[in-house]
Amino acid sequence: MAVQAVVFDAYGTLFDVYSISALAEKLFRGNGEKLAALWRRKQIEYTQLRTLCSTYKPFWEVTQDALVYSCRSLGLDLDLKAQHALMSQYARLEPFAECAGVLEQLKSQDLKLAVLSNGNPEMLTTVVKAAGMQALFSHLLSVDSVRKFKTAPEAYQLGPDIFGLPPKNMLFVSSNCWDICGASWFGYKTFWVNRAAAPIEELGVVPNGEGRSLRDLLPFLHESGAPG
Ligand code: LAC
Repeated sequence: MAVQAVVFDAYGTLFDVYSISALAEKLFRGNGEKLAALWRRKQIEYTQLRTLCSTYKPFWEVTQDALVYSCRSLGLDLDLKAQHALMSQYARLEPFAECAGVLEQLKSQDLKLAVLSNGNPEMLTTVVKAAGMQALFSHLLSVDSVRKFKTAPEAYQLGPDIFGLPPKNMLFVSSNCWDICGASWFGYKTFWVNRAAAPIEELGVVPNGEGRSLRDLLPFLHESGAPG
């Protein structure tokens, strides 16, 4: 049976986590890109560690912790004003330019669309609303309800539960290869938005599809016989 619902990761896939580097550069000259990269890496590392050790706390707080650590590690003096400025911008990260157009096309093809993210509900509502994308998704699924971050199976289970579909009839879309591996192991069909042209992780997973932007999802879904 063809794909009936498409579930999207948020940060890095729909919203550009590295767009924060411009503000970071203004605040910490010569360190903008380094800070954005380390901040993201630490944020994900903390989610994984907290899930492994059952010490969940909301993604907003994890994101703040990762920022504090990253600045300390780079020797940057993060005062409260700078912290507030960076976190405020994180709350309203820019979407990638192609996202709205592609999502509108998918929605017009009678596909069910949802976000499934580590972001806590307030974060997801704010970032999706700021991008004007709230009408495009039937659900914003947050792992907060299971208090475990991806790649915990309980997190991926939110998709099948909300749509009443088996994961093999759903496509999980992410720019994060580790997330693609987790979703594939869980049983979703997967599409890797490989924005950075990164090599595939050595974890024995081959996504069902791969592209460089969300635009590449359209021919993939067309070929795999989705509605429309
Ligand atoms: C998310 C992060 C992991 O949106 O990108 O879940």
